[in-house]
Amino acid sequence: MTVSERAAGALWGLFAGDALAMPVHWYYGGPDQIRDDFGGKLLSGFQRSVHPYPDSIMQLSNTGGGGRGSDEGDVVGGIILHDKKEYWRRGGQFHYHHTLDAGENTLEASLVQVLLRSFKDTGRFSADDFRQRYIDFMTTPGSHNDTYASTCHRMFFQKWRAGINPKECPDNDGHNVDTIDGLVLPSVAALLAFVQGHGVSAATASALEALAVTRSSQVLPEFVRAVVHMLDQVLHGLPLDKAAAKTAMEAYGSDLAESVRKRGKTDPVVACYIGGSFPALLHFAYKYADFDAWDALLASANAGGENVHRNEVLGVLLGAAQGRKGLKTKEEGLKHFQELDELIDTTLGQASLRRSSDL
Ligand SMILES: *[C@@H]1O[C@H](CO)[C@@H](O)[C@H](O)[C@H]1NC(C)=O
Repeated sequence: MTVSERAAGALWGLFAGDALAMPVHWYYGGPDQIRDDFGGKLLSGFQRSVHPYPDSIMQLSNTGGGGRGSDEGDVVGGIILHDKKEYWRRGGQFHYHHTLDAGENTLEASLVQVLLRSFKDTGRFSADDFRQRYIDFMTTPGSHNDTYASTCHRMFFQKWRAGINPKECPDNDGHNVDTIDGLVLPSVAALLAFVQGHGVSAATASALEALAVTRSSQVLPEFVRAVVHMLDQVLHGLPLDKAAAKTAMEAYGSDLAESVRKRGKTDPVVACYIGGSFPALLHFAYKYADFDAWDALLASANAGGENVHRNEVLGVLLGAAQGRKGLKTKEEGLKHFQELDELIDTTLGQASLRRSSDL
C-alpha cells in the first residue's frame, strides 16, 4: 500500500469510527447499558441515539462557556449550535447527539472535514486559514446537525463573542480541555504532512499548530507527539500492535501485552481526560490490531465511555495500518458518503501532487 492509500484508510477509519460510536457516546455503564438501550444487543452498525437518555450530562452543562454550569448563557444557541439550545435544558434528558441520524458524523469529525477543505484549497495546513474556516463553520447556522460541542469550543466562542482576537481565543479550564478530542485535528494535520512526504518533525509541527487553533494546552503536546510518532511508524508498515506497545513502553514504561492480557475479556470504560483516555486508546490499538478495522471500531464503540473521540483517533491508526478495505462505510450507510468520498480523494490527490512536485 502507498502512504496515500493508507491515509485514505485513516480518514475513512476516522469517519466510520466516529459515526459508529456516536449513539453510545459517554455510556459509562459500558456494554450492559448499551444492551439495555438497544434491544438487548450491542451495536453492529450505524444507529441513532435513544431518547430519553437520563444520564446525559448535557442537561448539567454550561451553555455560556465550558464545563458544567447553568443553561442561562447563550454561547450555545446564540453563537454556535444555533437551534440546539433546547436540548441542553435542565431535565431535558437529551443524548449528546440527539439530532444526528444513524451514520451521521459528530461535530469534531465535521471539523476534520473543515480542515481537509482548508488543506485542499491552500495546498498545505495553514493554521490561519483553518482558524477562519473554523469560526465560519461554527457560527453559521445549519453548517452541521450535531447537538453537542466540547468545552474547548464553548470557551473559544465565549471569548470570540467578547471581541477577543481569534488567536487569543483558545482557552483551558484546567479540566475539560486536556482531553482525547484534542488529538483528533492534530492527527489529521500530521497525516496530510506525511502524505506530502514530510518527516516526523514537520508533521509534528503541523499537528501542534492544529492543536493550538481550538485549545490552549500544556498537557496535550506530548500526547500529540506520541500519536504522530505512532502514525509515522504505522504508515511505514509497522504493525499497529507493535507501534502501540512501543508507545506504552516509552510513555509509561509499561508492558501493554501484559496489561491487555490481565484484563481478560474486558475493555476499559474511560472518561475524556487524557490521563485515562490515552492508555485506553493504546489498549484498543493493541488488542484489536488484527481485527478488521470495522470490527475493532465496533468493539471500541461497544465498550462505552468516551468512545467517539477515541474512535476518531483509533480509526486513523487502524485505517493507516489496514487501508480502506473492510470499512463498510458505503454498504452500511455513512450519511455523507458521497461528499466524503470526493473530499478525501481530492484532498489526498492534492497532497500527493505536492509530494511528487517537491521531489
Ligand atoms: C442535516 O440533516 C438534514 C436531514 O437529514 C440533511 O438534509 C442535511 O444535509 C444535514 N446537514 C448537514 C450540514 O450535514
